[in-house]
Amino acid sequence: MTSFPDPCWTARAARATSPPRCARGGRATSVDPCYATPAPALAELVRRELDRVTAWTSSQPGRFPLDDAGVWLHASAWQTAARTFLTDYALDRDHGTGHYQAAALPGLPFPGGTFSVALCGFLLFTYPRHFDLDFHLRAIDELLRVAREVRLHPLNDSAGNPYPYLTQFLSELQTRNVDYQLLEVRGQSDPRDTLTLRLTRS
Ligand SMILES: C[S@@+](CC[C@H](N)C(=O)[O-])C[C@H]1O[C@@H](n2cnc3c(N)ncnc32)[C@H](O)[C@@H]1O
Repeated sequence: MTSFPDPCWTARAARATSPPRCARGGRATSVDPCYATPAPALAELVRRELDRVTAWTSSQPGRFPLDDAGVWLHASAWQTAARTFLTDYALDRDHGTGHYQAAALPGLPFPGGTFSVALCGFLLFTYPRHFDLDFHLRAIDELLRVAREVRLHPLNDSAGNPYPYLTQFLSELQTRNVDYQLLEVRGQSDPRDTLTLRLTRS
């Protein structure tokens, strides 16, 4: 992970979807290469990254909403989510709940059709220096192998620039018989992140 220096890289791992999803009666599996990290080391990493992300967002008042003290408005919500995640992650390491699997796209360790939905957040289009169009296509082939529906968010990079290969990417989807919908959403962290791409096989 240290080879990916963009702000937000690892702190977002703290916002794992598994605990809230499971609390509502569903079953969720979260996949990230950083889940090979033991719980105490991951807790330390998350704390460091939360500080870094809070400083990074707080230094961009035109882009991120700040409170009266000039601190990123979502900082405390992220800290709460980080605590929930780290508690659940430690439980998983101790008892093997299967909520967290260490793996990396474009290869996922699941049989075809395992999931109803795969959410891929703040990864594919977020880091253009690391992931190109060819990687994006291999990643969605793999995501659509393991899930009936795939949602990719956002369609901007970490600097807020729109994905430059969207037209080419969408036409590649058509050749793969993949249906897509562009969903308008409210950007939770960056107000400019207003698009999610929903994919299903025809
Ligand atoms: C910005 S974070 C997003 C985390 C989470 N999806 C979210 O939306 O909060 C990007 C994460 O992708 C993970 N990552 C890096 N390379 C990956 C890959 N090839 N496949 C899956 N995850 C990867 C990093 O370890 C990091 O935790």
